[in-house]
Amino acid sequence: MKPFDVAALKRSLHTRLLGQVVEYQAEVDSTNVALLRLSKEGALEGTVMVAEAQTAGRGRIGKPWFSPPGVNLHLSVLLKPPIRLEEARLFTLIGSLAVADAVEAQGAKAQVKWPNDVLVADKKIAGVLAEVQVRDGRVEHLILGVGVNLNIDRAGIDRLFGDAAPGATSLREVLGRDVDRAAFAALLLDSLEKRHFEFLAAGRRPLLKEWRSRSFLGRRVSVREEDMHVEGVAIDLDEEGCQLVNLDDGSSVRVREGEVVPLSQERTEA
Ligand code: BTN
Repeated sequence: MKPFDVAALKRSLHTRLLGQVVEYQAEVDSTNVALLRLSKEGALEGTVMVAEAQTAGRGRIGKPWFSPPGVNLHLSVLLKPPIRLEEARLFTLIGSLAVADAVEAQGAKAQVKWPNDVLVADKKIAGVLAEVQVRDGRVEHLILGVGVNLNIDRAGIDRLFGDAAPGATSLREVLGRDVDRAAFAALLLDSLEKRHFEFLAAGRRPLLKEWRSRSFLGRRVSVREEDMHVEGVAIDLDEEGCQLVNLDDGSSVRVREGEVVPLSQERTEA
């Protein structure tokens, strides 16, 4: 196994905030949790935590994130944006667009799916998990965790991902070649930094506009949130980054924390 090349990542970065400090661990519970520990010890904004493997990788809504060693990318970034808690959700959108940029820079067409997925050919290739510490209604720090299936092959996905396997893919599976993990991480962090500063300067409108154009709005979806399970058409994002879905009876729902799954792949979604 070729370990993740931290020096190559640092050489390839074009950032002034992200990745000035890169912490690398062969194995952690979760890079989000490990970075939270570092932030409590005073880690600088922009610190990146990369792990070869995670023993307790976390996805949204309590789901696990499969993190075998040596093949994929698991990293978290410490941000301290001057935002209110309600705006933290928008960083999930920023993160997924940054991943989509990096995937496209490698030659595959990527789409985003509310709220935190990146898809290639309708299969999940990456997920983003934003976790915040809040004080007096303001975000003290935000940890943006990104997991990308880069070099795991189809046999590995089928062996390790359980029920999520049919709806998952990797860049290797799509491109038919291995991807340099450090080079991919540099593309991702370059884009994330650019998008982060654009958001701070220009606000949410340009972000939401671009996210809409790269997502699958207009498709029929299934929505699950707490006790609700309905079907309808994903029509838009609202200003807070929640998904709006039109139901068949003419009413609409606003999804804040649930799952929105395109119906064509409902049974296979990661
Ligand atoms: C999801 O799709 O549900 C979000 C997945 C986020 C996974 C990444 S891997 C790096 C970071 N550490 C974690 O424990 N989770 C995120």
